[in-house]
Amino acid sequence: MFSSFLALLSPALAAPTELQPRQSINAYTAPRLVNYVQTFRYGNGNRVSLAPLVDQGTGITHVNLAALHINDDPNGITLNDNSPDDAYYDQTWQEVQTLQSQGVKVLFMLGGAAKGSYLKLCSNATPGTKADQDYYNALVDTIRAHNIDGVDLDIEESVDVSCALALLQHLHASFGPDFLLTMAPVASAMWPSGPGLSGFDYPTLDAAATEPTRPNGKLVNWYNAQFYNGWGDASAQDFYNAIITMGNWKPERVVMGVLDNSADGGSGFVALETLKGVIKQLQANYPAFGCAVGWEYWNAGATDGYASPWQWVKEIGNVVFQATALPTRNLTVASDPQPPAPFQAETNALFGLVGNYFEAVRALNITNGDLAEAEKLLGLDDLLGGVLGDVLSE
Ligand SMILES: *[C@@H]1O[C@H](CO)[C@@H](O)[C@H](O)[C@H]1NC(C)=O
Ligand SMILES: *[C@@H]1O[C@H](CO)[C@@H](O)[C@H](O)[C@H]1NC(C)=O
Repeated sequence: MFSSFLALLSPALAAPTELQPRQSINAYTAPRLVNYVQTFRYGNGNRVSLAPLVDQGTGITHVNLAALHINDDPNGITLNDNSPDDAYYDQTWQEVQTLQSQGVKVLFMLGGAAKGSYLKLCSNATPGTKADQDYYNALVDTIRAHNIDGVDLDIEESVDVSCALALLQHLHASFGPDFLLTMAPVASAMWPSGPGLSGFDYPTLDAAATEPTRPNGKLVNWYNAQFYNGWGDASAQDFYNAIITMGNWKPERVVMGVLDNSADGGSGFVALETLKGVIKQLQANYPAFGCAVGWEYWNAGATDGYASPWQWVKEIGNVVFQATALPTRNLTVASDPQPPAPFQAETNALFGLVGNYFEAVRALNITNGDLAEAEKLLGLDDLLGGVLGDVLSE
């Protein structure tokens, strides 16, 4: 409002609303504005263009192309349902070059909700087998073929910590210290022994994943932690505060992952105006706040009434890069947080019995909301029989 008043008064004095491309921003330090792109076509078949991310001056710094899958055939890598070399992506690769020429880094997100990629890369128990090599070499070839700037490891299947560590070490050895390596755990997994889906403890991994030639001396540049789907809460600053405090993380290495649209996840969408306030609060709390990453681009901002996804990204960018009038610091830590969960009634019932909210979230996530299966997973079936069913039907 203030700037439109100024614009009326004198165009020359108007605050610049066009953010510059990010050459001036160091891709290896905060602040960052990351977005995932997983949907490359609209329902009507039209392509989702990435060009507005730079043409419209959104301030985007990193784009994560999701999701890359390792399939049974080592040479059958797909980006969603198509080979990255398929003509389906020809124009996308042209846009990726444009983004990169403007200083935006483009990464592959590997894995995600579809399982199998990491078990293949590590063959779980026997790292270094022939099969591993074939899968890994094909991954390296794919990254090289498309001149990708980094990989975001989204491990949503249970692997040993040695699998994650070996993969990080191999990627660093193949691509060097400037190649970006990020990970996308659920937010609660950033706590020591925090519940998550990867099968290992992130603080333990990070303590081992050191490399003196990389920024921070760490193999992982930063973590795109998922603050939704019951794993975290982006509607206030205190959940992020809790991660920083409990996990002893540097804020510049913890980027708050949020939903771009309420339909992009099972729960935990935060409306734009609230989100802007939380980002400002976290900037006030931590001068080197990470900052924000959104899932996912194609329908960003529609829940907030925007017609085009770049508009939502730009609204976030304006806060990330031009924040003024920051609030006073508030380092209050979430105590006993219970973020909205995708299967809320079942989560509440399980929580009442196991006493750990995030274990309930995890069990229902793994069983896709199936309460009886979640009970079994938590070892409750023998003890309690049908008690949970009774609780829920009350
Ligand atoms: C600090 O944050 C907590 C949790 O969000 C809130 O309850 C409290 O009112 C805030 N304190 C101030 C001084 O704003
Ligand atoms: C489980 O959580 C992950 C991470 O947030 C998400 O990708 C996946 O869709 C969730 N699955 C279910 C069934 O909620």
